[in-house]
Amino acid sequence: MKIAFFSTLPFEQTEFASCNSHHQITYIPQSLTLQIVVLAQGYGAVCAFVNDDLSRPVLEALNAMGVGVVGMRCVGLDNVDQVAMHDLGMTLLHVPGYSPYSVAEQGVALLLGLVRHLPTAHRRVQAGNFSIDGLMGFDLHGKTVGVVGTGHIGKAFTRIMQGFGCKLLAYDIRPDRKLLEDGVRYVSLSELLQQADVVSLHCPLTPLTDYLINEQSLSLMKPSAILINTGRGRLVDTAAVLNALDRGQLAGYSADVYERERTYFHYDFSEWGVADDLLNRLRRHPKALLTAHQGFLTQEALRQIARGLVNQFTFYDNQQTVLVTKASMC
Ligand code: NAI
Repeated sequence: MKIAFFSTLPFEQTEFASCNSHHQITYIPQSLTLQIVVLAQGYGAVCAFVNDDLSRPVLEALNAMGVGVVGMRCVGLDNVDQVAMHDLGMTLLHVPGYSPYSVAEQGVALLLGLVRHLPTAHRRVQAGNFSIDGLMGFDLHGKTVGVVGTGHIGKAFTRIMQGFGCKLLAYDIRPDRKLLEDGVRYVSLSELLQQADVVSLHCPLTPLTDYLINEQSLSLMKPSAILINTGRGRLVDTAAVLNALDRGQLAGYSADVYERERTYFHYDFSEWGVADDLLNRLRRHPKALLTAHQGFLTQEALRQIARGLVNQFTFYDNQQTVLVTKASMC
């Protein structure tokens, strides 16, 4: 099958090439948008990523060109109009549950980095400044951690925090039986926000979770609390979080995602500068720590995504061949 592979990052090409012998893949560095959807002309399939546009107009254009299947290299499918895909009779492939440890461990790294002031400490040491003034952190041991969304990633994060000796609270529309048996207490979102010293977001972005953390929910949190977001940028009203940090209503915000990340994340803008004022405020805030959506970026996760998707494309292709053969025999 001919696959147009959008938003290609250099390391992905190597990983996919190593496990693919069946498909003809064209690697395209640009993100998929309505403006460049024409690049998919002549392909039977598209492979897309977290910041590609798979809204109805783009899907209709793909469908009109004969693209029947879209494979997503991410778990969150908030950028895919699944209703439109269904209406158009298109097939959606993805790899749910690939190494959840990759994102959970990124969440822990962001938490520790913020609590122990690691970026400042590192910058000082690089400059030959070995002073530790202003680097006071706090023990995570004994603290209350609130996990919002206890699916694959939230569960892995919960287990790690239990290992740190934290007390765990959770909020999920579908509580996990195993976590309940292991002493995790499921509470309402407002109770979690009121009691937790650390709140970590691991639910998908849906109409129900859009701006889940906003001015009102932030007002429930302890002024000493830390907020971690490795889920999706729009789970959090960034301006409200920055205002809360400025007012001392929240102690720290550490994130791997940003609500308008599509333009910038995964590209080098160091020469060009960043024109997004909110992003500039976030990335320079002394109480914030930001990475550019790299939670999935471990060898194990990438390998599982590549193998999982290539196998699914192959399975889809074989099924189509059977259907065409059957049709020609009728
Ligand atoms: P999952 O589907 O296994 O778990 C999601 C959990 O959230 C489920 O238990 C579900 O019941 C719960 N949930 C759904 N709606 C909710 C709501 N309104 N309130 C509370 N809980 C709700 O997904 P997984 O694999 O754990 O991934 C979680 C999210 O992490 C993804 O949707 C994606 O947005 C993000 N992600 C981020 C990555 C990164 O590189 N930073 C990489 C992979 C995923």
